[in-house]
Amino acid sequence: MKTAAIAPVQKTFKLICKDIAADKSISHRCAMFSLLSDRPSHIRNFLLGEDTLNSLKIASQLGANVERKGSEITITPPAKLSEPDDVLDCGNAGTGMRLYCGLLAGVEGSFVLTGDKYLRQRPMNRVVKPLREIGAKIDGREHGNLAPLCIRGQALKPFRYESPVDSAQVKSALILAGLRAESKSYYKEALLSRDHTERMLRGMGASIVLQEDGWLEISPPKRPLNPLDITVPADPSSGFFFAVAAAIVPGASVFIKNVTLNPTRIEAYKVLERMGAKIAYETHEDRYEPIGDIHISYDGKLQAISIENHIAWLIDELPALSIAMACAEGTSRVSNAQELRVKESDRIVSVLSGLNACGIKTVEHEDGYEITGGKIHAATINSCGDHRIAMSFAMAGLLEGMVIEDIACVDTSFPNFFDILSEITKVDM
Ligand code: S3P
Repeated sequence: MKTAAIAPVQKTFKLICKDIAADKSISHRCAMFSLLSDRPSHIRNFLLGEDTLNSLKIASQLGANVERKGSEITITPPAKLSEPDDVLDCGNAGTGMRLYCGLLAGVEGSFVLTGDKYLRQRPMNRVVKPLREIGAKIDGREHGNLAPLCIRGQALKPFRYESPVDSAQVKSALILAGLRAESKSYYKEALLSRDHTERMLRGMGASIVLQEDGWLEISPPKRPLNPLDITVPADPSSGFFFAVAAAIVPGASVFIKNVTLNPTRIEAYKVLERMGAKIAYETHEDRYEPIGDIHISYDGKLQAISIENHIAWLIDELPALSIAMACAEGTSRVSNAQELRVKESDRIVSVLSGLNACGIKTVEHEDGYEITGGKIHAATINSCGDHRIAMSFAMAGLLEGMVIEDIACVDTSFPNFFDILSEITKVDM
């Protein structure tokens, strides 16, 4: 098992991050959406993490020709997606599995989607159930709730679906299925979840329109979509670990360059700002999404906060935000966040047990938790195979040190994480 020992920072730092990992959500979608065109898509700065490379491999198993020079990729789609001669392995990626379910449900052929031991325990009913309602044939363990999932592509009926969860994965799976249905479909969610799918598909020429009554209208395109031509921005969720570092180490500051400033993705920075960090945003381009820089600097001790709204906009950053809460003055509260229980690990359990090991007082609720700020002591933390737990506790280690066990999972989303961390403190691996 790979382990990292993080030493406490010896002096304050000013870090300019030009190489934060490329956005994971957008990279997955690049691999998949290029299959919806009839011409080559050009993608620069594709995330070379295990999760997104698995999505890319699946695209080639479905017949695409993938040429890769470092992180620059050309994906030439086949005239017709082909039935692969092996299982499609999504690794650790819920996004990979759920979006491919929607994409393949209407494609002729038989497809088996599988993943690692963590992904095979995560609920797939949230996409399987609505897809079955529109005619998809999907089966798997626990009546189709657990992978491996077997999909036999079918003609799909148009739908009107109001989702019980605010999930971009569910929305994207349904949009991808809707593109292959016989006529227009409609999708609604209570809170707009991350909207890369809508933005990218619109950029490729699809008609996906958010109506005034909140229903998203999805029109099946009459011809193949235009190809993608995109430079993937940096991932704000990956950058956020270093934002927390700047917010908890006196005198520190961090610049995150060329990151997506999509409002559905930077809410955690707004929360950190409300807790007392100094944060500035500068947009310098708008291609598919607004892109720019974020500058975070320490501005005194953080204050406790209560979070109950916009949980879908914070879901990936709550583990790192919890480290900020553990350093803040007072008791912070998170509620309406039961979705944390079905992420790469049960993140309510993994965050709280980690913090307890560091001497921080917490209270667990079914849909959230309370954290009373204090001194984060050095401890040994097991990542539970969850990349965001490993990286969050690495940040906590900047204060008094930390040993993180089972760090291989960091490669799923942020392969150069420990290289960047080594610029501010000593890391022994
Ligand atoms: C993602 C959506 C989120 C997020 C995940 C990536 C995406 O999941 O947690 O890391 O790319 O669509 P849910 O949509 O299930 O909340």
